[in-house]
Amino acid sequence: MALLIKNGNLVLEDGVRTADLRCDGGVIVTIGENLVPEAGDEVMDASGKYVMPGVIDSHVHYKMAIGNVCTVDNFETGSRSAACGGVTTVVDYADPLPGKSLVESLDYRRHEARRAFVDHTFHMVITPESGWTKEDLKALKEYGVNSLKLFTTYGDMLAYDQMEEIIGLAGELGLVVTIHAEDNQIVADQVAALKAEGKTQPAYHGVSRPAFAEVEAVKKLVEISKKVNAGIHIVHVSAGETGEVIRKAREEGVKITAETCPHYLELDDSVYQWKNAQLFVMQPPLRKPEDRRLLWENVQKGTFDFFTTDHCAYSEAQKFSHDTFFETNGGIPGSETLLPVLFSEGVSKGRISVEQLSRMLSENPARLFGLFPRKGVLRPGSDADLVIVDPEKQVTLEKDLLHSAADYSTFEGMTLTGYPECTVLRGKILFRDGHFLPGDPFGKFVPISHEGDH
Ligand code: URP
Ligand code: ZN
Ligand code: ZN
Repeated sequence: MALLIKNGNLVLEDGVRTADLRCDGGVIVTIGENLVPEAGDEVMDASGKYVMPGVIDSHVHYKMAIGNVCTVDNFETGSRSAACGGVTTVVDYADPLPGKSLVESLDYRRHEARRAFVDHTFHMVITPESGWTKEDLKALKEYGVNSLKLFTTYGDMLAYDQMEEIIGLAGELGLVVTIHAEDNQIVADQVAALKAEGKTQPAYHGVSRPAFAEVEAVKKLVEISKKVNAGIHIVHVSAGETGEVIRKAREEGVKITAETCPHYLELDDSVYQWKNAQLFVMQPPLRKPEDRRLLWENVQKGTFDFFTTDHCAYSEAQKFSHDTFFETNGGIPGSETLLPVLFSEGVSKGRISVEQLSRMLSENPARLFGLFPRKGVLRPGSDADLVIVDPEKQVTLEKDLLHSAADYSTFEGMTLTGYPECTVLRGKILFRDGHFLPGDPFGKFVPISHEGDH
């Protein structure tokens, strides 16, 4: 069935325009004034509302197992929660599987995602054990994925010279290299010192992974990028100074892109003194109020290409099952609150325009990860993925309102101005007026587009 959305403030590539938008066959067919419904069209009035491209959360971890602990959101629950916040595409992570090639591992992850409610693609994680031959990397692109993920920390981290080799190869092949940047030596030294002093409570989480670990890692990666003349993308930037390093590197012509997350913009490390500190443990940790200020400043200056959530949901029971910072499962839920928090804190508070928000939530990740123009824009021919936002609606975030299996949000109690009221994926309504609509999942794997300018 076709869908005609009337009188919305459409957030288009060249600005906001009040018009109608008609979707049919899963794609946007017409954008224009005074469109007349055709027989059988479902008509929605969006007067006074923004109609934005569906949000792309390009950093989620569904069904992520570390040892015998698994995150509570699988592809089904995680993507349902995401859709209730206006997300229509997610980019999850494919881990290399022992004895399997990179493409086989990716294909297995794609199979695990078959019950997702939103469209999806993946970043392929590269580890010292996975290998990264040119043929293996080329095969990923042929399969339809253009993004790799490297870690400078955790058990699976690569040495900097290995990263240099991968970044160089990826540059030659036109692949994106996304990197979790925290210098492992700095973190290891800090953790050892805290343990030696018996400072093991979650209150020390922020101190255990200091901002300078991120800054140092990014500086080293910038040098590598310059040396091999290839691009890098820094995920979940947490520290204000890292934003400054990235901004200056870009000004000097380094091929560096970056993302930050709502939690780094809106929360600070004072929460680690709270009794429920574990709920706020993620890597990298929350920083100081000054970091938040500098991060917002760099959002406004265009240093960050997009926002992501690093959605990695554990239940309260899982979080509280340990009382040390180094054993607490790192990660928080986030996709469902991505658009609402940033619309309220960014657009409603006048920090950024709705056009910038839309570029950072949809167009820019679509371009980097090869999904543009099928995803990321409202344009005839593009997938009919969109979210209708009521800019006046006031909502206080509570767990009962949200849909993640985590059953808590780090933003609980926050009152927002502006909230999604309807999410549409390829022309079908997934979420409307606070309710996820029943139906079978029909999220699809989206291979990279060869027509897009990414
Ligand atoms: O604490 C976090 N962020 N967990 C997920 C894994 C990662 O580093 O992104
Ligand atoms: Zn990470
Ligand atoms: Zn992550």
